[in-house]
Amino acid sequence: MGEEYGEVIVREFDPNRDTERVEAVERMCEVGPSGKLSLFTDLLGDPICRVRHSPSFLMLVAEIGEEIVGMTRGCIKIVTCGKKLSRSINATPKPLPVYTKLAYLLGLRVSPSHRRMGIGMKLVKKMEEWFRDNGAEYSYIATENDNLASVNLFTDKCGYSKFRTPSILVNPVFAHRLSLPRDVIILRLSPSDAETLYRRRFATTEFFPRDIDSVLRNELTLGTFLAVPRGSRYTQHTWPGSIPFLADPPGSWAVVSVWNCKEVFTLEVRGASRVRRTLAKTTRMVDRALPFLGLPSVPNFFRPFGFHFMYGLGGEGGEVVKMVRALCGHAHNLAKERGCGVVVTEVSRREPLRLGVPHWKRLSCAEDLWCIKRLGEDYSDGSVGDWTKSPPGLSIFVDPREL
Ligand SMILES: CC(C)(COP(=O)(O)OP(=O)(O)OC[C@H]1O[C@@H](n2cnc3c(N)ncnc32)[C@H](O)[C@@H]1OP(=O)(O)O)[C@@H](O)C(=O)NCCC(=O)NCCS
Repeated sequence: MGEEYGEVIVREFDPNRDTERVEAVERMCEVGPSGKLSLFTDLLGDPICRVRHSPSFLMLVAEIGEEIVGMTRGCIKIVTCGKKLSRSINATPKPLPVYTKLAYLLGLRVSPSHRRMGIGMKLVKKMEEWFRDNGAEYSYIATENDNLASVNLFTDKCGYSKFRTPSILVNPVFAHRLSLPRDVIILRLSPSDAETLYRRRFATTEFFPRDIDSVLRNELTLGTFLAVPRGSRYTQHTWPGSIPFLADPPGSWAVVSVWNCKEVFTLEVRGASRVRRTLAKTTRMVDRALPFLGLPSVPNFFRPFGFHFMYGLGGEGGEVVKMVRALCGHAHNLAKERGCGVVVTEVSRREPLRLGVPHWKRLSCAEDLWCIKRLGEDYSDGSVGDWTKSPPGLSIFVDPREL
């Protein structure tokens, strides 16, 4: 730490004193490879917005004198880290989730004029202290594969190891509505039916949050939607509830929930050439004027736009990919009605259902890098062993509260 800068104090964020200064640092910190397009996030005046829906969260700032030079956020919750078989003498064994207390560190930023002085490390260490004090067994972070500063900081200096590489799939919202296949119908599930369905079918998926009910009941969840073949005995009027449905499901079905990020933060692409902006604008104009052509227009990403996030994607059957595609069409139309620029989802690299998720490669991220660390050595490993060493499953549950 250079003498001329004085002492770095790391303390809890105070919304009354710090909001503006934190936003100023945020604006200076461009996340994304330099020289290319980059994504700016506007937190709409609420720096805690990215963690405030988690059961337990903290935001820290680093300060030198009166100046805020860095910050980070963290949250803790209980998630599935593996599965075990139930032991019952009479019944066939069923897979049951094994839970762990998991911390997530996100939104680490150090102002460009104060980098490489150990401030990032100091923020991480302080946050990890809070994680440990609150009983978290593991801590994880997500970063872009090519963000060398962040990958080095976490893997070389802070003991994290590369863990999972899910894909972020981004699809633009066109100026026209998408038509859905006629032989599929979309039902809307109540939060309690959605909870039952998720707990019965997806509780053993890695990262599944044990408090799924609070995610589904959160005001930002716009709904949980189920696609079934038209002509099956399930319609909105004949819906018997999730337990009878799962006991006698149609040949194929799929489910997804939609989270409204638009009210939480907006994004903006900066650094695009004039030609690219103009092309994008032209396709939009044509699409608006002639919607029946179904041209894939590019939304205006060059001014702040909001998005919806699809989470809890699942389903089964020979036509499940078709069901997923219908759900994505439905989610697109919902996003269009609500004025969003894109629909986003994040799935495991090996997720079979990703085939049904339309997305634009150029807007998407094939490998979002998740790194993990075990915070203590004295935990009982139970039936899972050390989670950090376990192989990835087919699916992963990406919690919309942590985007
Ligand atoms: C990533 C970031 C927070 C690092 O903050 P920082 O205060 O400069 O980090 P530190 O000084 O504590 O660096 C600790 C270690 O990280 C690694 N590191 C940091 N910056 C690096 C860089 N530009 N290139 C390579 N390694 C780097 C080094 O191993 C460094 O140790 P060293 O200086 O002894 O070599 C900062 O670069 C930043 O705000 N970037 C933009 C936002 C971002 O990408 N956040 C991460 C999202 S998860």
